[in-house]
Amino acid sequence: MDQITFHHDTVLSDVHMLLPNARRLMTRLNSVGQPVFLSKFRILSDSEKHDNSEPGKGLKETEQNDEPREDGHKDTQEAQGKDGEEGGAGNVEPFLDVDGDLDVQHRPRKNPNEESGRDLVCPIILKQSNAALEEEEEEEEDEYTNDKDIIKIEHTMATTLEDVGKQVWLGAFLLADFILSKPHMFRGATVLELGAGTGLTSIVMATVAKTLYCTDVGEDLLSMCKKNVTLNQHMIEPAGGEVRVRQLDWLQYDLCTDADVEFSWTEEEVADLYDNTKIIIAADVCYDEDLTDGLFRTLYRLCSNFRHTCTIFISLEKRMNFTLRHMDVSCDAYNHFSHCLFQLEDLVDGRCSFRVEQLPSDFAQFLLYERIEQLELWKVSVTPLPLHASTVNAAPAPEDTKQSSS
Ligand SMILES: C[S@@+](CC[C@H](N)C(=O)[O-])C[C@H]1O[C@@H](n2cnc3c(N)ncnc32)[C@H](O)[C@@H]1O
Repeated sequence: MDQITFHHDTVLSDVHMLLPNARRLMTRLNSVGQPVFLSKFRILSDSEKHDNSEPGKGLKETEQNDEPREDGHKDTQEAQGKDGEEGGAGNVEPFLDVDGDLDVQHRPRKNPNEESGRDLVCPIILKQSNAALEEEEEEEEDEYTNDKDIIKIEHTMATTLEDVGKQVWLGAFLLADFILSKPHMFRGATVLELGAGTGLTSIVMATVAKTLYCTDVGEDLLSMCKKNVTLNQHMIEPAGGEVRVRQLDWLQYDLCTDADVEFSWTEEEVADLYDNTKIIIAADVCYDEDLTDGLFRTLYRLCSNFRHTCTIFISLEKRMNFTLRHMDVSCDAYNHFSHCLFQLEDLVDGRCSFRVEQLPSDFAQFLLYERIEQLELWKVSVTPLPLHASTVNAAPAPEDTKQSSS
């Protein structure tokens, strides 16, 4: 287990990749044979939190065991200088060398002056059987006075695209930071998270909200998510929150209410979801056009059946890729997200209205990660139109309490 092989079709989240030498406790193999790791993320206190009012000047380290980066903020600023000149989505100029070949721009390296070129990726993997190392881990943990501020997350690393939910993504951190910065907005609310993955954002939300419907697809992923909720009861219970891990597939017509199926919904939960959800959150869920279409259909179908106002918060990372289709650098997934988002605003259906705005990402940083400029947070305010609200109030049609895919 000393060497990790990254296959060509695997992706590795920056959250795990930028901490190559952090200690990782491999806890088990999951039911599909993937190694599962335990990482700890500390919520900084008010006095430690990072003031992000200067955009992009975020902290660079993520998990608690990392050494601070020697170059401090320097390379973030350098990166911003380059990206900042490039303008908005879909308007990215490729960098060409003197011969006109594409010069792919990498994120700045930890030690840019080192000749070796690449940062060394050598995570220290601790096996569960190694009691001495585990004890050492626990001692290190004691250094952090307040265990209640540490979020423990089981996750896998370097997954295929279909398993990306088993990793933690920067969008989850951005959204979690927003919640921690503005707890009053969420206090006592019923909240739905779509595409929750490991459940980190739901867990943070449950420290202020009342009920969390933490949803995703796939038994294996949902089991991991449920385990994470259990691992973090020390944060959730004192706040009086409750997290219910449920299956919600953006590509399916119905919410599953079959009691024999794990992670299915009870009829009461479905009613509660439609009657009381005031907030919907989703972190880093727009990376595939078909899934993004399904996500927006789901959002529309849910919100157009609410009798009350609802606010949606979506965080994402604007990823730029070189594509053979365009022979250029583009952000297709982001552009498609943007298209779907503004389509909602243009919708005239007599049921509800949607107002879209991008929120500044200058709120305080309670978690340690790189608040890169490409991380964005969007807010959608949904208001039922008066006629529709009264119709729904009078007699909710059974079909209206279902999701659909068409
Ligand atoms: C990049 S991950 C983000 C996970 C988590 N929100 C985070 O930021 O760490 C995208 C998530 O979308 C979920 N997803 C993909 N297709 C879905 C579908 N059809 N219905 C519901 N969730 C889906 C994935 O399982 C995954 O958890």
